[in-house]
Amino acid sequence: MKAHHERLMDRLGLLADRGVRGAVGRAIGREIEHHARITSTQDRARELVDAGCGPMVVVADEQTAGRGRQGRTWSAPPGTSLLASWVFRPLPSDPALFALLAGVAVARALDALGVPGARLKWPNDVQLAGKKLAGTLGDAVTASDGGALVLGIGVNAGQSAADLGELAAMATSCRIEGHEVDRLALLARITAQLDLLAASPDERRTALDEWRSRSSVLGREVEVRGAAGSVRGLAREVAEDGALVLETASGDRRILAGEVSLI
Ligand code: BTN
Repeated sequence: MKAHHERLMDRLGLLADRGVRGAVGRAIGREIEHHARITSTQDRARELVDAGCGPMVVVADEQTAGRGRQGRTWSAPPGTSLLASWVFRPLPSDPALFALLAGVAVARALDALGVPGARLKWPNDVQLAGKKLAGTLGDAVTASDGGALVLGIGVNAGQSAADLGELAAMATSCRIEGHEVDRLALLARITAQLDLLAASPDERRTALDEWRSRSSVLGREVEVRGAAGSVRGLAREVAEDGALVLETASGDRRILAGEVSLI
């Protein structure tokens, strides 16, 4: 009975039906491609960009080769996560900032669906109760036609602690935090927020302020591990372009990529 009830709560699978997909696509203003199982929505969206697609979103119930940032994998049991990649055309002027602000879009969508208090960890993590709930991944495609941004988002919605296994020390899901979230509603809310950000520099400025106020790292001593090694310092600011400004013993450093841990 419980499993049946939970299936009713989550409507993402309805997108398998062409009519529903068309209606939802019209409501959210972009074509939807839905897969029960795929290697990676990110790779599929990239293929669609190369084939000349317009604004769309690729969504899957399961990925067999999901990608995370910095070459990591991203995996989730079938039907537990929102796994989606949006195509934005042309390429936004500051793709790294856009991927950072996508965290604000996720946090706002969660707020609206009764999951309050999401915090953001530079650059692209969404956290709940101090643990990772979602991540965003921006792949810029440059081309003479203006290019595109493929923005991938994975949100842990219905995982149990057992599903997360040893990751449960660092990661969580809406369900683990006591919230049942409909992945279709999440898809629609996130899309609306992303489109708002894509449409207006003013909205991006407002969202950057919101990013700062939701930040779990600003004002804290951190270590950032990047390709060129580790840097320690006080996370003082996130700059207008999304760079993390660290106050270190040898002066301010602007960090463009890396993994942050609190020290
Ligand atoms: C991160 O490392 O935090 C970013 C994770 C991004 C995962 C999403 S899931 C949907 C899309 N498809 C992928 O293969 N990756 C992104």
